[in-house]
Amino acid sequence: PAPGWAIDADVVVVGSGVAGLTTALRCAAAGLATVVVTKARLDDGSTRWAQGGIAAALGEGDTPEQHLDDTLVAGAGLCDETAVRTLVTEGPDAVRRLIGTGAHFDTTDTGAIALTREGGHHRRRIAHAGGDATGAEISRALVGAVRSAALRTIENALVLDLLTDAEGRTEGVTLHVMGEGQHDGVGAVHAPAVVLATGGMGQVFSATTNPPVSTGDGVALALRAGAEVSDLEFVQFHPTVLFLGADSEGQQPLVSEAVRGEGAHLVDASGTRFMLGQHELAELAPRDIVAKAITRQMHLQGTEHMYLDARHFGAAMWEQRFPTILAACRAHGIDPVTQPVPVAPAAHYASGGVRTDLRGRTTVPGLYACGEVACTGVHGANRLASNSLLEGLVFAERIAADIVAGPRADPGTASVRPPVVNPAGTHTVPLLTAESRTAIQRIMTRGAGVIRSAGSLATAAEELEALQRAAAAADEDGPKDAVPGVEAWEATNLLLVSRVLVAAAREREETRGCHWREDRPDRDDAAWRRHLVVRIAPDRQ
Ligand code: SIN
Repeated sequence: PAPGWAIDADVVVVGSGVAGLTTALRCAAAGLATVVVTKARLDDGSTRWAQGGIAAALGEGDTPEQHLDDTLVAGAGLCDETAVRTLVTEGPDAVRRLIGTGAHFDTTDTGAIALTREGGHHRRRIAHAGGDATGAEISRALVGAVRSAALRTIENALVLDLLTDAEGRTEGVTLHVMGEGQHDGVGAVHAPAVVLATGGMGQVFSATTNPPVSTGDGVALALRAGAEVSDLEFVQFHPTVLFLGADSEGQQPLVSEAVRGEGAHLVDASGTRFMLGQHELAELAPRDIVAKAITRQMHLQGTEHMYLDARHFGAAMWEQRFPTILAACRAHGIDPVTQPVPVAPAAHYASGGVRTDLRGRTTVPGLYACGEVACTGVHGANRLASNSLLEGLVFAERIAADIVAGPRADPGTASVRPPVVNPAGTHTVPLLTAESRTAIQRIMTRGAGVIRSAGSLATAAEELEALQRAAAAADEDGPKDAVPGVEAWEATNLLLVSRVLVAAAREREETRGCHWREDRPDRDDAAWRRHLVVRIAPDRQ
């Protein structure tokens, strides 16, 4: 079906986490007609699940330079140093402005921002809120600010595709609104600037810390629009996710690195600490190293998980500092005050994404990407803990500044127009069934999970291609004008990003950062200190 309604705006922001809402607030404050579109509710994305906090050189004696050093080490040779320098130098003020927007961070007895440590940080530089509910507080503050700002929000709206003009310039997006709201059905927001802030793609795997909405929609849209995507092979597996059983699928409870930052130990079933001697920072080594060490121990010992032991914190500290994690563990019958917590790695963060410059511009004119969906170069082969909220904040402000300085839409104010007819509203790619989601997740977990090899990746590639062929065959026989539901688009997006991820992981014949090839166990700087950039030409889609 063609879009049945359309809105004009100066900028449309797709997604409502820290990146999207910060961009939207800054654009609206500068007087731009701003529309925020989000697939579920404003606070349903990944941001509200963030626990540990937001990293910035805010503490006495800490400097952006030291934050830069830690970020570059974690990124295993693939960070863009200029991008990291931008992140760490603009970070502290961006956090202060977030506080100005209404976010309350935990403070010390003297009223300073309380700071903790996480993996890969040589200093205490992680600001947190509500103990371990940092993302929830940031989301609360930003959603509150958005609700009282002069901008339009459209919830329960799945963005289908980018609209471009004959020269390939961004003209807006088509979207399908499926819930209550002033619009329903397929429509369009016309705007010369579109900001993808759709978050990550953790749902590519069976077990992930990401919420169900993290299905790679932004990367898939960007690929369909012919934008460049980079570093998709670098999927970060968080080392300590509460182990709920080998068959447990979907979003799993995170046990923040901050628990280790405050002194918890990783132990095996006999209580032996296995990170000692593996890295100078032991349990606080960068995330990829800890995830690999846990996985290795699991293989060596033939077990499905290791343990995080923080019984020595005592009940008062658990209750005050980690109330969210305590409640999640207890809800699953584990009491961290008296028992070691079973943990195993699970998919957590996409270090790669849609390639951007330092102003958040993608390779498609007028299309921006911000936050987890983007690849700004700050994460390299492995993101440093708690740099993600910071990246969202810093680059949102840069993107807003670039859009404010750029051309405006004509007529310049958001207004409902009579229905337009635009063929982009029909689906032009074969759509998967909703049920394919589980099949994709299992293929990816088996073949492209925490440990990969040429063989496992080749099998995954074949299985994904079979799904693609089946979808194409079903599409040829099926109706062309039905409006597909969210689940079908999500599965379609998951398949597209999975295929690109597997292709990149096959090509990168080395082990680096969070890309672990057991058949190529060494880092190969001579051949592989470079990025894999993918662009699908429109005629190949
Ligand atoms: C955590 O709290 O361990 C997650 C922090 C992050 O992903 O940066």
